[in-house]
Amino acid sequence: MLRTGLLYLSRQQRIFNLIKNVGFARKMASRFVAGETIATALDAVTQLNAKGITASLDLLGESVHNEAEARETGRQYLELLDRIAERKLDANVSVKLTALGQDISDELGVEVVREVLARAKQYDSFVRLDMESSAYTDRTLDTFEQRLFPDFPDTVGVVLQSALRRTLDDVERANALPCRVRICKGAYLEPPDVAFPDKADVDRNYVAAMHRLMEHGRYPGIATHDEKIIAEAKRFAKEKGIAPDRFEFQMLYGVRRDLQEQVVREGYRMRVYVPFGSQWYPYLMRRLAERPANIAFMAGNIVKE
Ligand code: FDA
Repeated sequence: MLRTGLLYLSRQQRIFNLIKNVGFARKMASRFVAGETIATALDAVTQLNAKGITASLDLLGESVHNEAEARETGRQYLELLDRIAERKLDANVSVKLTALGQDISDELGVEVVREVLARAKQYDSFVRLDMESSAYTDRTLDTFEQRLFPDFPDTVGVVLQSALRRTLDDVERANALPCRVRICKGAYLEPPDVAFPDKADVDRNYVAAMHRLMEHGRYPGIATHDEKIIAEAKRFAKEKGIAPDRFEFQMLYGVRRDLQEQVVREGYRMRVYVPFGSQWYPYLMRRLAERPANIAFMAGNIVKE
């Protein structure tokens, strides 16, 4: 119930307008978001890199309202890639096609993301297309497969969500290319005809997808904080003789830092997804929905300070 309520609130821009300057809300956001500027985000990446952790930077912002906003987001990603290279950081970027104009027109989204891909290719970097709600799954996968992957096979990858009933088919499609996939559980509220309502099914589907990606895919990103699934990935890799440099674990900035460091100590690769920017509200609400106990935890910490 609480999860549903928080995910509903994540889509209410009016609420963001009300709380964006409230100190308490900004402080909550700062646990999961690496500041509002490229400079603060790169400082966070520097600290991660020092611990042997790589990063994927996400400029926060979802659907934009006009072409100028989409092009401005694209421009900021180009600057971000330049600055990552300048500072020689071990980081790539994650983008949302809606933030690059997909909702205005597919053509605009493709044009802007191709500019970002061309710059990333120049630096031998990588761009992950984040996956949004199921309303976008087909559009995102079709755009990826037909209009991006053929020209940028080493530079672009997608995300699949184990909550969706279709995902094992999408895994086969991805492995056939083969392309790089980040597998995650899925952060959006979805109807039961497209997504599994029971968490146990989502977790089971995750493990099935992960096995196929590890065995037959191309350098999968295993994005989860679920210790049982992480243990299963390690077990499966050993059983099948899959070397630790053939996949990477991925976690979110501010979530289970202890586990992030432990995984690196054990000799596995770890990439942390580092969001930054002023549009932090929907992202924060999705993180709170994943673990509503965070609200009490953070409120307690903030009150104590
Ligand atoms: P689960 O929710 O079962 O949590 C397992 C354990 O992890 C919990 O018991 C808790 O201890 C800890 N945990 C999880 N979330 C926490 C939180 N917010 N705060 C504190 N502890 C927490 N989704 C999507 O739809 N599209 C996308 O493109 C992406 N991209 C993405 C990238 C990366 C690197 C990650 C790690 C995740 C995503 N996600 C995503 C989000 C993903 O779909 C999912 O919502 C979250 O990762 C939470 O699911 P877990 O797999 O961690 O499992």
